[in-house]
This record gives sequence, C-alpha cells and structure tokens, in this order.
Amino acid sequence: MKRDLLSLQDWTQQELLDCLSLAAELKALGPIGPYRNELAGRSYALIFQKNSLRTRVSFEVGISELGGSSMYLTDQDFKLGERESVADTAKVLSRYVDGILIRTYSHNLAKELGENSSVPVINMLTDFCHPCQILADVMTIQENFKDLSATPICYLGDGNNIVHSWLNFASRVPINFTIGTNERTLPDLELVEYSKRKGVSEVKLIYDPVEAVQDAKILYTDVWSSMGEKEKTNERRQLLMPYQINSHILSKAAPGAKIMHCLPAERGWEITSEVLDGPQSIVLDQAENRLHAQKAILLMLDRWFRS
Ligand code: CP
Ligand code: NVA
Repeated sequence: MKRDLLSLQDWTQQELLDCLSLAAELKALGPIGPYRNELAGRSYALIFQKNSLRTRVSFEVGISELGGSSMYLTDQDFKLGERESVADTAKVLSRYVDGILIRTYSHNLAKELGENSSVPVINMLTDFCHPCQILADVMTIQENFKDLSATPICYLGDGNNIVHSWLNFASRVPINFTIGTNERTLPDLELVEYSKRKGVSEVKLIYDPVEAVQDAKILYTDVWSSMGEKEKTNERRQLLMPYQINSHILSKAAPGAKIMHCLPAERGWEITSEVLDGPQSIVLDQAENRLHAQKAILLMLDRWFRS
C-alpha cells in the first residue's frame, strides 16, 4: 500500500516506535548489514526548493547504503507548480521513480504532491513541519535517556516547523514537552491544543524562559528565523534574546541536561558557541542520526508499498 510521511500525524504510535527501533538497529549494523540491498533497483527523486546540507546528504547516502539510487532536483531543473501543475508532476514522476522526497515552502504543495502520486512521498521540510528531523531527534534522546516519556524536553525559541513536528510527535507518542517562547513567536495554537487534547503527552507553553527550562533534561533550540522568513531576523532577535540557550539558562535546567539543535545554527543568537560546542551538546549525534532514522523511514515506506 502507498503510504506517505508528510507529517508525523500520518503514522500511528506503533509505526513511529517501530521506525525508531529499526533506526537503532540500522545504526548498530552499519552500512553493510543485512538491509544493504533492500532498495536495490529503486530510484528516488529528491526535490529541493530550499537549501540543505544534512537532509540532502543523509538521504543520498542512506539510499545508496540501501542499494538504491537518488536524483537531486532543484528549481533549475523544473519549477514545481509553475511549468506544469503539481498534480501532473506527481503523476509523471510516479511512472519513473519509487519515491518522491520534497523540501519546499508550502505544506499544502507537499500534500498535493502526496495526494497525486502513486508512490510514497516524504516531507524533507516545509514551512509547517520537519518530520524526518524529529524522528532522528527522538532516536538521539533515546540513546541518552532510557525512558523517553520521563525525559522532560524543553524547546526554547521560535514557534516554527520544528516545534510543530514535536507537537505532532507528542500527539502520537508520550513525551513531556514544554515550549518556551514569546507571545509574538507562537507556534500554531490549534496544533498546540490538538496535541494537548489527544492526552498522549504532557504539553506546555510557557513565556518565562527560566520557568520553561526547569527540570528539563533536554534543551532544544533552532534558528529564530527559518528559511523563507529571513526578513524577520532583526525583529526576532529582539523578541527572542531572553530565550537564548547559554550557560546561564543551562544552569537552570536539570543537572547534566543535554543540548540539542537541528542545525544549521546562528551562533551567538539562539545558542552560544560555548554551549553548542560544550560537553553537554549532542548536536553531532543528532545530525548523524538523520542518516539512520531516514534509512528506517525509507524501508518502512517501501515495505508498505510492496505489500
Ligand atoms: N537540520 C536540517 O534539516 O539541516 P539541513 O537544512 O542542512 O538539511
Ligand atoms: N526551522 C528551520 C529548520 C532548518 C533545518 C528552517 O525551516 O529553516
């Protein structure tokens, strides 16, 4: 059956947990494990309308390690939704490739691609969410703390696509998730309410950064202005400076708290170099785990597709 990963809400709790277990197994096995040819003969179209380092390289390497091949497509190749309709592109690509991966601005465009393709579609980031990132992040937390639901996670900063994916995850799998942000940089409040209403996780929104990080074992942040909204940088820097992750705010969290950032970072703004490069930072494990988590996503979607 064709399934997509456009949002973490697309998958059940069990499917997300299975994906995390498979990701850990793939990491332990390394690139020459028993899955190394599972995607032999499969081709993937990777469409990027925004820049990327981690996502592009980890998907290309992951597909290659599983025996498949990938092609990198940008607006210089074809302008999705401009030269022809998104639906036509989806239908044509579905005749050539075994999966379509998209990084774009509009989440609705990614959904349209999913609705019109007959092969699996993976969201590699939209303005609304970044599901692959959060699966790698959860995997990284599981490597550091035995009990995910007993590990308070505090996200400090802009209420952006990363927060939305955390909220989607929280609506499926039990976590303890606090957002510390300004009232002018809030995430989608309907999604906050949805993830609270589901009753799966403890979800809080707190304006005071010191109160937000209290008891947190994970301190997470991301850039204050995402791709496509860099004109908001100056305003955001004024609003969000109190939410910067620095040694002072770290001293207010649980002892030994770990530092996470999806990267790329704007050092000296949402996080200081001292903390980002410090002994409590796990950002490079987090970046590495993109590879393992995405290999698991590819395998799960391919297995469903063939069954
Ligand atoms: N974290 C992340 O998605 O990084 P890139 O934008 O470099 O892919
Ligand atoms: N919120 C950031 C994440 C980058 C991986 C952005 O969308 O630019």
